Amino acid sequence: MTDSITIAHLNKVFASPEGGTVAAVKDVSLEIGAGRLVTLLGPSGCGKTTLLRMIAGFEEPTSGDIFFGTRRMNEMPPNRRDTAMVFQSYAIFPHLDVFENVAFGLHLRHLSGAEIATRVERVLELTGLGGFARRAPSQLSGGQQQRVALARCIVMEPRVLLFDEPLSNLDAKLREQMRGEIRELQQRVGITSVYVTHDQAEAMSISDEIVVMNAGAVAQRGTPHEIYAHPASRFVAGFIGRANFVAAEVLDAQGVAVAGVRLAVAGLAGGPVGTRVTLVVRPEAVRLSQAEEGLRGTVVRATFLGNVAEYRIAVAQAGEWLVEVPNPVENGLFAVGTVVSLTPSAAAVHVLA
Ligand SMILES: Nc1ncnc2c1ncn2[C@@H]1O[C@H](COP(=O)(O)OP(=O)(O)OP(=O)(O)O)[C@@H](O)[C@H]1O
Ligand SMILES: [Mg+2]
Repeated sequence: MTDSITIAHLNKVFASPEGGTVAAVKDVSLEIGAGRLVTLLGPSGCGKTTLLRMIAGFEEPTSGDIFFGTRRMNEMPPNRRDTAMVFQSYAIFPHLDVFENVAFGLHLRHLSGAEIATRVERVLELTGLGGFARRAPSQLSGGQQQRVALARCIVMEPRVLLFDEPLSNLDAKLREQMRGEIRELQQRVGITSVYVTHDQAEAMSISDEIVVMNAGAVAQRGTPHEIYAHPASRFVAGFIGRANFVAAEVLDAQGVAVAGVRLAVAGLAGGPVGTRVTLVVRPEAVRLSQAEEGLRGTVVRATFLGNVAEYRIAVAQAGEWLVEVPNPVENGLFAVGTVVSLTPSAAAVHVLA
């Protein structure tokens, strides 16, 4: 059985060791549907761990409520909340083999040896550790150790799974592989999950929904697609992916002026003619050509990255733009000093009020 999670007007104020107080979590309200994986994403110190620890019961809210399903959790001690947490440091026992590490919590629940064996074996299969039951943790790779930590949580069949930067000790390649595995496993077991990370690519790839946090408060929540394509603020746009912020002026319902040049923009609800707006232009949403019209700029840096070419382009009266063009092996590379014409895709440009 899993539960939805409801968080209502949650606040956490710490007494600061230097005197005064720190508002670590500010009026956060969230609904997390049963079986969903929601990521808390934001810069260091924005309150992700504090929020997660309040859900687990390790930290008491200053005000506000936490519900699992319809049950209020505020006064429920952590060991009775039926949550399990996967940490960055795996916290597995070095003196126990893989099987006994995973079985540990089941022994504490006084299950029969036969039932423990059945459940542990099933979870070891599920996490790809089938052949490693009798290995010591020291004989496992970092990724395998993290799988043991995950198996140890899942075997308890918790109502809620909590992850606090579980992959940050792994190298980039393994991180990518493990995030796919965690996502697949979470969908298979269907346990409501809250996942903390400050890695935006990890959040994009793993989540049903992302909650972007800034200084203790929710800056935006939405699917990865919504947050990337329609960021609510400059903070969100800059934190999720890379973006050019371009000053523009509304001309009519279909276009804006940038440095005196008309650009087509779809879905423009930017207010009356003459309103000043900021455009969010993603680097991959700009086409480059050598047409002698439109918005023009000079290539000041060209970097070949294999799958893409990355350009810095100085645009007259419109700052320096970052532009990414796919497949440079086939398309070639514009040299530094080349004057190019920039055409942002009308559908991909997002307008900030
Ligand atoms: N026990 C505490 N006492 C005082 N202040 C605290 C305490 N725990 C956290 N804080 C403060 O609360 C704020 C939020 O901390 P938190 O650990 O939730 O951030 P985070 O988003 O998890 O950051 P990171 O990405 O670095 O892990 C920070 O300013 C931190 O210094
Ligand atoms: Mg943290």
